[in-house]
Amino acid sequence: MQVNLESSKGNGIDFSTATPLSEIPGPTAISLIVSSLPGGKFYKMELREVLRSCRKQYGDIMRFPSLFGNPSIVFTHKPEHFEIVFRTEGQWPVRPVLDTIKSFRENIRSDIFGVHAGLLHSQGKKWGDFRSIVNPVLMQPKTTKLYIPIIDQVASDFLGRIRFLRNPTTNQLPENFEDELNKWTLESIGVIALDTRLGLISNKANEKAMEFIENLKLVFELAFDLEFNISIWRIVATPKYKKLMKVLDSLADSAREYIEEAAGKLKKRKTESTKDHEESVLEKLLKIDPIIAQVMAIDMIFAGVDTTSSAFTGALYLLAKNPDKQEILRNEIRAVLPEKDSSFTIEKMTRLPYLRACIKESQRIFPTLNGNVRGAGQNIVLDGYQIPKGTFVAMLSPDLQMDDKYFPVASKFLPERWLKTDEARATCPVSAKAAHPFIYMPFGFGPRMCIGRRLAELEMEILLSKLVRNFHISWEHPDLKFKWSTINAPVSKLMFTLVDVEK
Ligand code: HEM
Repeated sequence: MQVNLESSKGNGIDFSTATPLSEIPGPTAISLIVSSLPGGKFYKMELREVLRSCRKQYGDIMRFPSLFGNPSIVFTHKPEHFEIVFRTEGQWPVRPVLDTIKSFRENIRSDIFGVHAGLLHSQGKKWGDFRSIVNPVLMQPKTTKLYIPIIDQVASDFLGRIRFLRNPTTNQLPENFEDELNKWTLESIGVIALDTRLGLISNKANEKAMEFIENLKLVFELAFDLEFNISIWRIVATPKYKKLMKVLDSLADSAREYIEEAAGKLKKRKTESTKDHEESVLEKLLKIDPIIAQVMAIDMIFAGVDTTSSAFTGALYLLAKNPDKQEILRNEIRAVLPEKDSSFTIEKMTRLPYLRACIKESQRIFPTLNGNVRGAGQNIVLDGYQIPKGTFVAMLSPDLQMDDKYFPVASKFLPERWLKTDEARATCPVSAKAAHPFIYMPFGFGPRMCIGRRLAELEMEILLSKLVRNFHISWEHPDLKFKWSTINAPVSKLMFTLVDVEK
């Protein structure tokens, strides 16, 4: 894709002559606080609505001042700005981190994270060095292929669990199906990060694994609360902060225990087998450094569980609400999985273009994250305003993904818009290709993009195929709603109905 270098200067305006950052329109700290109090216009309003209201008032670019220890931030709704920010992000792109987790890593468990800081909560050279070690292990297509049989097995077990949980009279899944989906994603990440079947989707509860998932849930709740609500944890260690540190500590220890157990088994397997085998992610990382294996496992678990189950929920819901599209998908899958219990192979995975289009379209309609943030990699100009190096710029894409200007008939679930063949184009008058390429980036961009993308897609593709191959999926309740958060999660109970497909 062509980059208009002129535009990286903001319509040709040089940084030195551009309008200062402080003049970008936006609310003052006082007005934000007052509006958020009882009686104020933002009181109890979701962040998404606050931002929409501010966009109406201030325009496509606005600035929020520094508040409660959080730095000031520029919000933009213009894809041309996204392109400038990403194209100038530099060798070590900066994405803001959660200060609570950073504090844990630096102060409580520097024994591990002082050696290797990991990906999620580090910046600069430290981040770059770690990423260049783990990229070759995680980003190669052959790594993903290696996991097809085991991810297929996890998905088959999950189907068994669904049959066990489903109401035999109504065929409805239980209200807490979201928790079950989180167990499925953690079980899947467990086989990659820890070389372990955690046992979360077995019908017999496994205490250690259940404690692990409960702790993970607590981390998200506590970290979100401390980071985004008013708190003095930065000055005094509050009870919630202490609890978060304890839970993070226990998670780090559990990851180490699982890895040590797996390492023992791997060693044994190696001495018993004379055959060469393709090494797993954990084996490769352990060979480099056991601490890297532990840190990467923790990052994968933090970043790969709720994200994947949220994205999966959106896809399943949209297929449930669009039975015609579900049927097209079922026909594609039938050709690849002739029997209801057929398994996937590498070759079969290449024959599912409609499935991939369905997932892409659902991530457009229900994004998992609300865009992306970068610290400007250099001095840039956006709409004539100076954006000095390091300024945080939030690129808000969800409303653009639902804007007819970029995605015609945006409110419609049209997987066909993502297909590439002439035949597909003949059945669908609109194409996602026409949209600005920097709007739709569910896995981010550049050297800091999601390292688990292929694995997340593999998990979703396999489970979605198996579900659609086995069941007619429907939704007979009010529309599903997602809550805007660090990771968007459904607020509605997930009440899918699954009726067995005959053959
Ligand atoms: C549908 C599921 C997922 C979505 C939508 C998603 C999305 C993202 C996005 C948008 C980013 C930020 C990229 C950027 O700043 O440009 C990211 C980072 C990351 N993701 Fe994912 N992700 C998903 C699943 C996973 C999985 C399964 C894993 C682990 C195997 C994972 C591991 C990570 C890590 C470690 C990072 C930090 C990368 C870095 O800073 O170098 N993600 N993800």
